[in-house]
Amino acid sequence: MKGIILAGGSATRLRPLTKVTTKQLLPVYNKPMIYYPIETLLKSGIEDILIIVAPEHAGHFINLLGSGKDFGAKFSYEVQESPRGLSDAFIVGENFIGKDDVTLILGDNIFDCDFSDHIKSFSGGGVVYAKEVHDPERFGVVDFDKDGKALSIEEKPKKPKSKFAVVGLYTYDNRAVEYAKKLKPSDRGEIEITDLNNIYLKNGELKVNIIEGLWEDAGTFDSLLRVSQIMAAKYKEEEGE
Ligand code: DAU
Repeated sequence: MKGIILAGGSATRLRPLTKVTTKQLLPVYNKPMIYYPIETLLKSGIEDILIIVAPEHAGHFINLLGSGKDFGAKFSYEVQESPRGLSDAFIVGENFIGKDDVTLILGDNIFDCDFSDHIKSFSGGGVVYAKEVHDPERFGVVDFDKDGKALSIEEKPKKPKSKFAVVGLYTYDNRAVEYAKKLKPSDRGEIEITDLNNIYLKNGELKVNIIEGLWEDAGTFDSLLRVSQIMAAKYKEEEGE
């Protein structure tokens, strides 16, 4: 299983914080944001990681993270020329993925969850992870049966069919690369991860795992502040402060 962290995009919602830097390098309490998805992958047992970045910030990521040796990991880098959509990660990452399975994590998604059992037991198809939220219309929304088989998945629906948001972590077999290449851009001009998931769903091969721990999409001022406060409290508790 290989890992990809998608850390490009323009983060206009966070201006002026992101005027001269990028969202995934902003601090979340005592670390740059991207440390969290790196740690999530490492905790899941994934150490071979591709980091996809926007051209203007590529040098900063390499300066900060280097080869991955300091993390006990191996980092590779690719540049995404423009934000073509989340599924573009599998096209930009094609050479890196090779013949392997792949887990994608979004560079602004922060978890305090252990995915290692799910990753270890992955046996093909697609897997999305979901969490019950009060505002599902802001996210991808998945509906599923009692065995965790996905029944529908929609991107930011006005009338959500469930309260379960799809979080920014996805596991696929190698077909994700070929499926991504077939996708057409959506109304917002992106090749959507939800459309990739719908291909697996139509094959009857999309599984949903419910997650219990912390999940935040740190893409707004409020969620960035909230997750910094949560991580500060956790850090101080662990340090006995
Ligand atoms: O956070 C979970 C949600 O992430 C899911 O529930 C949605 O189904 C999924 O589409 C996605 O929604 P967002 O609207 O939050 O995605 P956003 O466009 O903000 O992109 C997420 C991150 O990926 C962001 O940090 C920038 C980066 N990105 C995005 C695009 C479109 C890239 O690096 N390249 C891209 O082409």
